[in-house]
Amino acid sequence: MQYRRFGRTDWQISEIGYGMWGMGGWTGSDDDQSLVSLQKAVELGCNFFDTAWGYGEGHSEGLLGKLVKANPDKKLYAATKIPPKNFQWPSKREYTSNDCFPPDHIEEYVESSLKNAGLNAFDLMQFHTWEDSWLKDEKVLQKMADLKAQGLFHAIGISINRWEPWNGVQAVKSGLIDAVQVIYNIFDQNPKDELFPACREQDVAVIARVPFDEGTLTGTLTKESTWPEGDWRNTYFVPENLNSSVDNADALKPLVPEGMTMPEMALRFILGESTVSTIIPGMRQLRHVEANIATSDKGALNDSLMAQLAEHRWDREPTEWSQ
Ligand SMILES: NC(=O)c1ccc[n+]([C@@H]2O[C@H](COP(=O)([O-])OP(=O)(O)OC[C@H]3O[C@@H](n4cnc5c(N)ncnc54)[C@H](OP(=O)(O)O)[C@@H]3O)[C@@H](O)[C@H]2O)c1
Repeated sequence: MQYRRFGRTDWQISEIGYGMWGMGGWTGSDDDQSLVSLQKAVELGCNFFDTAWGYGEGHSEGLLGKLVKANPDKKLYAATKIPPKNFQWPSKREYTSNDCFPPDHIEEYVESSLKNAGLNAFDLMQFHTWEDSWLKDEKVLQKMADLKAQGLFHAIGISINRWEPWNGVQAVKSGLIDAVQVIYNIFDQNPKDELFPACREQDVAVIARVPFDEGTLTGTLTKESTWPEGDWRNTYFVPENLNSSVDNADALKPLVPEGMTMPEMALRFILGESTVSTIIPGMRQLRHVEANIATSDKGALNDSLMAQLAEHRWDREPTEWSQ
């Protein structure tokens, strides 16, 4: 495993981190399996774990707490997220800071997350939705600064809404946050336009989330794919999205070099972006952990393939189903 500096915090973070949404409640999750996979990741050098109160109302945070306690001799970086008070994803322009992150709500959910995980502090506390217009309300980041000063967490981050990388640039430029979490993958390359330059300028760490476009970039989806009842992916991969996603993934298949899989190509594409500190694939199965972590030592793709993949940029706008 290779490590990168996590922006101004100076933490050394594994290039492949761990996304813990799926194990918080996607259908087919099994806690015993998840804990085995998490422990394997630690043994293979992974030291960054991303969860949220919203991943099973604290369930995923509980798994992370168990992992941290099971590895007292290792420094594992624990990141979580405060849900918006209106519990609405995605955020919309008309939601105010008071609708989503009033100071008493921030404090209540920081305490709740610490309790769920059984930890005294998190390393990174993120807002689970974000609007740059909330910067005008000084109470929001002031409350975070106060809680940070109390030692309840050590760094502040925002998780930028799907397909809106522009809607976090002002927060980065404000100098008040330490990290951004944003969708960045072969399709979603638009954080390179404005967000990444701002992060470099302000030394803000970048967490690249959803590296497989929720599964499309594993190359395993078909236009007939469905998920068990209650799985959120049925509401995301509606026909309009599923059909175009499969078409765009199929267009990549001829580019996958011999001996490489599409998931490996997807992760190594992201490794080619030096502004990214860590990539957090969602993974519950052991074989996914092993395969994904192995990509770090293989490194970025060659320049010619990187250039070919850059042409598969797919700019999308949030819609009713995009969440
Ligand atoms: N608003 C937000 O802040 C927000 C939103 C979305 C995601 N996130 C964070 O980002 C993380 C990653 O996103 P995600 O989990 O939604 O999507 P993702 O990482 O794009 O895809 C996850 C899916 O890929 C599968 N997978 C993983 N490695 C694979 C491999 N090598 N080969 C084939 N399939 C593989 C996983 O299967 P298994 O699970 O069965 O192993 C899972 O079904 C989340 O877990 C969460 O921490 C944050």
